[in-house]
Amino acid sequence: MPELESPQRQAPDSLMLTGFWYRALPADRVQRNRLHKATLLETPLVVGRDREGRAFALRDTCPHRGMPLNCGQFDGDQIECGYHGWKFDAHSGQCRQIPSLTSDQNLKVDRIHAGSYACDERDGFIWAFISDPLPQGAGFTHQAEPPTPAPAIEKFSSRYKSAYLTADMPVSIDHGIIGLMDPAHGPFVHQAWWWRSRNSIHEKRKDFELIPNGFRMSAHTPSSNSAPYKLLRLYAGSSSITTTIDFVLPNIRTETIRAGKYWFSSLTTVTPITRNHCRIDVAAAWNIFRWVPFGPELLKFVFAKFVEQDRRTMELQAEGLQHNPHLMLIDDADRPAKWYFQLKAAHLEAKRIGGEMKHPMTGPVTLKWRS
Ligand code: FES
Ligand SMILES: [Fe+2]
Repeated sequence: MPELESPQRQAPDSLMLTGFWYRALPADRVQRNRLHKATLLETPLVVGRDREGRAFALRDTCPHRGMPLNCGQFDGDQIECGYHGWKFDAHSGQCRQIPSLTSDQNLKVDRIHAGSYACDERDGFIWAFISDPLPQGAGFTHQAEPPTPAPAIEKFSSRYKSAYLTADMPVSIDHGIIGLMDPAHGPFVHQAWWWRSRNSIHEKRKDFELIPNGFRMSAHTPSSNSAPYKLLRLYAGSSSITTTIDFVLPNIRTETIRAGKYWFSSLTTVTPITRNHCRIDVAAAWNIFRWVPFGPELLKFVFAKFVEQDRRTMELQAEGLQHNPHLMLIDDADRPAKWYFQLKAAHLEAKRIGGEMKHPMTGPVTLKWRS
């Protein structure tokens, strides 16, 4: 079937997908024996580290009468609710003690659970596995077992540097994600003398292929009109520089750049916080320019500039979005955005009928746009 010539209309559903790992907080912000608040998918969490430094995440709601657990006491092992002093194991959420019980009252305390989430620490972030919504009357439910470990940055040597960056975006998860994969905003939003100018717009062709739960911009040589790539080509002494960019549900973009023995890898996520608010987290690892004394700071500076330009743009966009306009998605520049909505719909449909997900792409596709 030929692609429609007219723009596709699409209302963002802002639906947040459960059953996936999400980044909760940067790991260096979470200290031992302390409780921190976080919100993921409109769910309040209390995140911390036990005495040994192992991270945990509980629903920030006491199963007794809803008091936020972050207001309670934490001894590095159990959290004591600030209202009636019930105590919960920080990792499993299992209730350990109810102070008001008399010795002849035999309520089975250990059957009660505060909601708890599987937790993992990777590449500078604490991740929580947000399971499908629990049946009403939770308080007796155990932690869901994640089907896979939390996503990690792919690394190609044992020695490397790493850094992360995080920024709040005042838009829904859908706008955050399609903004992230949008190839056409670059020349207008991300102008910088050391990157590229608006005059450098030219036609591009990129091959895409399907991968499980997502799509890949196939390995290609990055556009030569940006200074950093020119520098890299010189430094690596390698004529072949390839970039591969993947997007997979629910919110993950990975980018891998390889030039001979040098590599740069990043894993970016857009995390739904509330329906009108998301957070972008970029974590990167690399062995290029490892000897540069301020390497991570320099890279952070460059990334921070890009992310701030995106953040500022989305802040302005949010003003327009208050009135709930439809989106217009045009070919080919917005095709990745269409795939995102289609993947999400296919994922939800597979879940509803309990079958395999039907991937919206049937084979490789070449897209063309000017940027
Ligand atoms: S509300 Fe937490 S112990 Fe009562
Ligand atoms: Fe951008």
